[in-house]
Amino acid sequence: MTAEDTVAGVTARAVDGDGRISITLQVNGREQRIQVRPHHTLLEVLRNELGLTGPREGCGVGMCGACTVLVDGRPVSGCLLPAALAEGHELTTIEGLEGPNGELHPIQQAFVDHTGFQCSYCTPGFILTSKALLAEQPDASRDEARAYLAGNLCRCGSYVKILDSVMDAKERLKG
Ligand code: FES
Ligand code: FES
Repeated sequence: MTAEDTVAGVTARAVDGDGRISITLQVNGREQRIQVRPHHTLLEVLRNELGLTGPREGCGVGMCGACTVLVDGRPVSGCLLPAALAEGHELTTIEGLEGPNGELHPIQQAFVDHTGFQCSYCTPGFILTSKALLAEQPDASRDEARAYLAGNLCRCGSYVKILDSVMDAKERLKG
């Protein structure tokens, strides 16, 4: 079998002697070609193969949002998505938000200024989900933000300051 063969309309991939397939991901504007096992999740590949530790493992079953990655701008739980299925999509992790000179994104800066965190384990997920929210709903109300962020959990209970941060970020992005 070649690297990719189509059999009865289904594309099959060659597996190397170590049980790995070759995939190409677009992460934070860079093309990354890597070997992964077919069952590896996007979260595992980002952290263990690409060294991007912003996405974090909390629950591991799609319930907490700590592993959030933007896939074509929409928040997705990286712990649920097989890495191979992320091919052909634009992936953004928290590492991809900084400016060309390392400056913080306005949403990140708002979280810093409002102390929208305690331990910060949940923070990358909240910031990425907030980015998707404010792209979709630039005038989101506090209640709309609360509803959009409902899939992200903060074990430290920093929800009030997180929402303060998001509402301020909304104004910064307009400004
Ligand atoms: S680690 Fe993925 S949703 Fe909790
Ligand atoms: S700041 Fe600790 S889990 Fe949210």
